[in-house]
Amino acid sequence: MRVVSGIQPTGGLHLGNLLGAILRWVRMQDEAECLFFLADMHALTIAVDPAELRANIREMAAALIASGIDPAKATLFRQSAVPAHAELAWILQGTARIGWLERMTQFKEKGGKHKERSSVGLFTYPVLQAADVLLYQATHVPVGEDQKQHLELARDIALKFNNDFDVELFALPEPFIGGGTAARVMSLRDGKAKMSKSDPSEMSRIHLTDSDEDIAQKIRKARTDPEPLPEDPALLDGRPEARNLVGIYAALTGESIEQVLARFAGQGFGTFKPALADAVIAMLSPLRRRLDELRADPAELERILESGAERARTLAAPTLANAYRAVGLA
Ligand code: TYM
Repeated sequence: MRVVSGIQPTGGLHLGNLLGAILRWVRMQDEAECLFFLADMHALTIAVDPAELRANIREMAAALIASGIDPAKATLFRQSAVPAHAELAWILQGTARIGWLERMTQFKEKGGKHKERSSVGLFTYPVLQAADVLLYQATHVPVGEDQKQHLELARDIALKFNNDFDVELFALPEPFIGGGTAARVMSLRDGKAKMSKSDPSEMSRIHLTDSDEDIAQKIRKARTDPEPLPEDPALLDGRPEARNLVGIYAALTGESIEQVLARFAGQGFGTFKPALADAVIAMLSPLRRRLDELRADPAELERILESGAERARTLAAPTLANAYRAVGLA
């Protein structure tokens, strides 16, 4: 079993990233060999501010460590420090089909109405993502629900490559999506949109860096409906905002939706929201304190990322060499 996953260093870490992916990465470090990386090359597919990107990379590394990623257990690195990602991605551009990429819903959403003016990188982004995991023979890729389609594409690319070149080169990666509601944490302003760093409203998401007061305020102002909470989870159907807040609470406390509803049934959001705010603050404030300490030592962060990259380069080398050989470039 080998676990590989990445996060884009754009914007700060939010509750969706944490519950959907990062806290599961943390749990997996003790069970398997893990490689986690900052997908800084993926960040080049939208408008880039170089100074901001540089700062965000370090900030995201600190946020991951503050959240519990232990560089002594997991290999933590920046994607751009391991050129094999870009090299394999180029080889796989020959395997991936335009029709496959055209079906990617994330490109349709991010490309918006002006697809022809999007960067080429935004379109071929999932090919680089496939290289990220195939390079290390990843068996499990812990991600939120929104990345499932990209990983299915990685499997298709791996299968076609193995087949076209008659090799058993790439292991087929399994998207590893969390159970329950954490797999898709929704915006606090709209229960039908996912919590996302690209949402223009700061009130739509909770950041690791938010103060306790900010967290309480965002939850107090979160959109809800006027009904009290039901006892039966099926009655949350058609109430996406209520379902989301109950789901976040359950993910934070490790309870099931049924257990949460058993406790809060019949109560309104005037009671539930402060309890939810307390649970979010209880989880985030110790992480925020650790983040402040880590930021104080940028040289140590650089050292951690470089030693991770060194290990990743070693692990990536054989598969890249085999891919070159398989296509006739060696
Ligand atoms: P990114 O940076 O958008 O998100 C990082 C991780 O957080 C999860 N996530 C969520 N989970 C639940 N609810 C949400 N609202 C939510 N928002 C984000 C994402 O599913 C992801 O697991 N393309 C990837 C980065 C990447 C990658 C990879 C991932 C590049 N190469 C290889 C896995 C393997 C991305 O943009 O994730």
